[in-house]
Amino acid sequence: MNETPTAMITGASRGLGRALAAGLAREGFALIVDARNAAALQAAADWIRAAGGPGKGRVTAIAGDVTDPAHRAALRQAAEAAGRLDLLVNNAGTLGASPLPALADYPPDELRTAFEVNVIAPVAVTQLMLPLLRASGGAVLNITSDAAVEAYAGWGGYGAAKAALEQASNVLAAEELALRVWWVDPGDLRTDMHQLAFPGEDISDRPEPESVVPAFVRLVSERLPSGRYRAAHLMPVAP
Ligand SMILES: NC(=O)c1ccc[n+]([C@@H]2O[C@H](COP(=O)([O-])OP(=O)(O)OC[C@H]3O[C@@H](n4cnc5c(N)ncnc54)[C@H](OP(=O)(O)O)[C@@H]3O)[C@@H](O)[C@H]2O)c1
Repeated sequence: MNETPTAMITGASRGLGRALAAGLAREGFALIVDARNAAALQAAADWIRAAGGPGKGRVTAIAGDVTDPAHRAALRQAAEAAGRLDLLVNNAGTLGASPLPALADYPPDELRTAFEVNVIAPVAVTQLMLPLLRASGGAVLNITSDAAVEAYAGWGGYGAAKAALEQASNVLAAEELALRVWWVDPGDLRTDMHQLAFPGEDISDRPEPESVVPAFVRLVSERLPSGRYRAAHLMPVAP
């Protein structure tokens, strides 16, 4: 029996996913990570290993697209090879069309892609991982956004997809009572996706993704009840 807790994080080559992977490595998790760009993913895997923790060195990087069923099957094989899966983080996401169009002008193909990446893929990855997660009494963490619940002009495609992910999470939590199912709004972060949402703008006032990692570590380590959370409300208070 493998004693090392294992977490799978999609979209871990940069941004929030990479920061979360390093934070969980420091907590002793072995990791399975993915992203489409293989070179960037490999560089991130080296960076995550260097982050340390008892699970360090146990980073399995599998390049691929979460919308591809063959890639999702490869992720499942990696989890089976690890012998256990304790946490699935559905973090990979897309903004959709950029610059952000009004719904009146939203190209339907771009809308379909936003739903494929932000809703269908995380649900499909979860379906594949549920047997392993049930065996470990594990947890699913879906990364959502305030755009799922606020009506920001231009955010209709991304926001509608994240709203669908939130309700899928909500129902999953009602169905999988032995698991934890969390859906978390990380807040605005200084990442490539955020820059895409604000092309040409200076986003250097947004916090680095590393700044919210303690909120996620608290959620996981305290195994808080299933539900929707905002990272800002989970930040541990300094003693
Ligand atoms: N940044 C913010 O302000 C903010 C706010 C609220 C919520 N979020 C959410 O936080 C999550 C992470 O966003 P981020 O800002 O860190 O974005 P990011 O910097 O653009 O990183 C996205 C990561 O996902 C990977 N990815 C994208 N599409 C993928 C696909 N189809 N299959 C596999 N991997 C894929 C990317 O690598 P490749 O391109 O190589 O695939 C990259 O590793 C997203 O779910 C986003 O919606 C972000």
